[in-house]
Amino acid sequence: MEASFVLLPGDGIGPEVTAAAHAVLQTTGSRFGHRFEFESRPMGGIAIDEFGDPLPTSTLDACRRADAVILGAVGGPKWDDPNAKTRPEAGLLSLRKELGLFANLRPITAHAELIDASPLRRELIQGVDILFFRELTGGIYFGRSALSEDGQHAESVMEYTVPEVERIVRMAASSARTRRGKLTSVDKANVLEVSRLWRRVAARVMAEEFPDVDYEVVLVDAMAMHLIARPKDFDVVVTGNLFGDILTDEGSMLPGSLGMLPSASLGDSQPGLYEPIHGSAPDIAGKDTANPLATILAAAMALRHSMELETEAAAIEDAVAAVLASGLRTKDIAAGKPAVGTVAMGEAVVAALAAAS
Ligand code: IPM
Ligand code: MN
Repeated sequence: MEASFVLLPGDGIGPEVTAAAHAVLQTTGSRFGHRFEFESRPMGGIAIDEFGDPLPTSTLDACRRADAVILGAVGGPKWDDPNAKTRPEAGLLSLRKELGLFANLRPITAHAELIDASPLRRELIQGVDILFFRELTGGIYFGRSALSEDGQHAESVMEYTVPEVERIVRMAASSARTRRGKLTSVDKANVLEVSRLWRRVAARVMAEEFPDVDYEVVLVDAMAMHLIARPKDFDVVVTGNLFGDILTDEGSMLPGSLGMLPSASLGDSQPGLYEPIHGSAPDIAGKDTANPLATILAAAMALRHSMELETEAAAIEDAVAAVLASGLRTKDIAAGKPAVGTVAMGEAVVAALAAAS
């Protein structure tokens, strides 16, 4: 098949991890006989420097035309001035909104090979397999937001509408059906009116449309605890934008490193946006130490969710597993033992992928 990718390397370690994913996609294309096309566009801090805009129109237009968008990371201390007109992160939020990517899928699975890289006990995390559905274009990220003229008061409002809750709950519940049949909805309904709406709507959708899915609700503070205390009890978890942001960073400690976790942001139509969960890590940028596996696994998600190339996606995931099984580790997952760099890790995945054919 033919498919087009837009690469948004972004800032910090973004270009390094995106280059690795690019190479893996090229190898996948030639191994399976697909015509994959790639174009790279500026976005984030680098686009602020060049165009004064973290999401230039030309970049957004290129993304709209693509079948999938692969993003490295955005942000860094250079653009952290609280008085700045715009920030790299604003570009990412606009991109999600403009492309209608209301569902952010964040799978959290413990790779058998890496269990000892986790700060948690082996018996707690062995077999963990959670899929988060984080609502991505609503909530406090997109509610009314203002700073008073005298600088003495600020507000950021958490808002949800009934259709916004319905569509993310439906998507999460449909996915639970194809997995272990359990959905956990996380909110703060004991305090927030917006959460009470979320809870009412979710309960109705589940009762009317998904009576076969085992459904529970958990308060977000309790969830922060249960996620670490009994992670194996969760299958699919659905929650709002801010709660999902926080809980998935916490969840990343289950597999041991943020450097292993990919994510997919999806809407009702293509393209989807695929990125690692981790940020731009400016402290290690340009040092060839970042772990490219999260971005490589995000590329696999792109093939699965935007192109329905399940075999190809699985081939990438198998190649990553094979490389880990061979003992290769980047610094973040090496647990103090010798580590390889970003480039070497990417090349090893490419080699494993090519060797498997
Ligand atoms: C994420 C990031 C973003 C978010 C930032 C960079 C805007 O933390 O994708 O989780 O908060 O959504
Ligand atoms: Mn985050």
